[in-house]
Amino acid sequence: MTLEELEQGKAASLAEIAAVTDAAGVEQLRVKYVGRNGSIPALIKAMKDVPKEERPAFGKAVQAWRAEVEAALAAKGAGAATGGAKAEDVDATLPGRWAAPGVEHPLSRVIADTARIFGKLGFTVADGPDIETRFNNFTALNTPDHHPTNDRTDTFWIDSAEIRGEGTARTAEDLLLRTQTSPVQIRTMLANKPPVRVICPGRTYRRDTTDATHSANFHQIEGLYVDTKPVSLADLKSVLAYFAKEMMGDSVTVRFRPHFFPFTEPSVEVDFSCHVCKGKGCSVCKQSGWIEVAGAGMVDPRVFKHVGWNPDEVSGYAFGFGVERIAMIKYGIPDIRWLYENDLRFLSQLV
Ligand code: DAH
Repeated sequence: MTLEELEQGKAASLAEIAAVTDAAGVEQLRVKYVGRNGSIPALIKAMKDVPKEERPAFGKAVQAWRAEVEAALAAKGAGAATGGAKAEDVDATLPGRWAAPGVEHPLSRVIADTARIFGKLGFTVADGPDIETRFNNFTALNTPDHHPTNDRTDTFWIDSAEIRGEGTARTAEDLLLRTQTSPVQIRTMLANKPPVRVICPGRTYRRDTTDATHSANFHQIEGLYVDTKPVSLADLKSVLAYFAKEMMGDSVTVRFRPHFFPFTEPSVEVDFSCHVCKGKGCSVCKQSGWIEVAGAGMVDPRVFKHVGWNPDEVSGYAFGFGVERIAMIKYGIPDIRWLYENDLRFLSQLV
């Protein structure tokens, strides 16, 4: 086909489209000219046979033809947007469909706020994988193999002799879904020299049955500060007190209660004073005036030994928050499952 013939073909096709009056006819012409086996796609396929020098001009002309035919068909109401209706059938005054832009998820907001608050204190964000080794998740955190959390009833194991049906031998390389973000402490210390100052947000997994306050998949934020100069429990308390005020409001204070964790000594549970009743007692704090939010303590010397750091030369503190817990008390969410349903009517009220 010469350029001249092509122009004639174009004029004829546009005249044909202009003359058609019904939707079926428009569709027929669409198939004839721009359908998958239509004459314009056939011309495009045949381009390779056009002499090289003529190809650019020819290509341009074919594309122009296609564009004009498509525009003419669209003006006749062809295409999915109007479902084959004619332009005059479309009521352009109807309100459009609203594409909701979405909102930040409360869990993302709590993590971002925590990173910002601790960032002001010199903490950076460290990351670790969801799939961990027995060594990082348990052994190096001074949690012995016979500890109940090592058990198949508490932890999602991915690979071990027991999982493979090859006996009960336990090795450091056994794989699991991490039950806590504390293994990121181990990774951080193995990969750095003191001082380290990190927070580690991430997903964690436990074989819990889901109810209003439990989920088999939840989020934690770990914190770790280790230095070659002495670090004390008072340092830990002041940092958490600062975090409490920044996160929950100026009136909120913290208290420590003695507790046990294998990887800290001494260990504490951390309560925030109730931000709703200001400590007087209400349903959120179960009338106690306090809300438990974290575990914490001074890093156990045995943990330092596992990562090859000399406990006589370094000291530090660690803490671990539940992200859902903070979100639930901050935004007054009574059921943890609401955080995973992604219902915009709920989420858009919060942050
Ligand atoms: N990993 C603990 C848990 O999941 C929380 C925790 C307690 C983290 C004390 C710490 C800590 O770093 O020092 O229950």
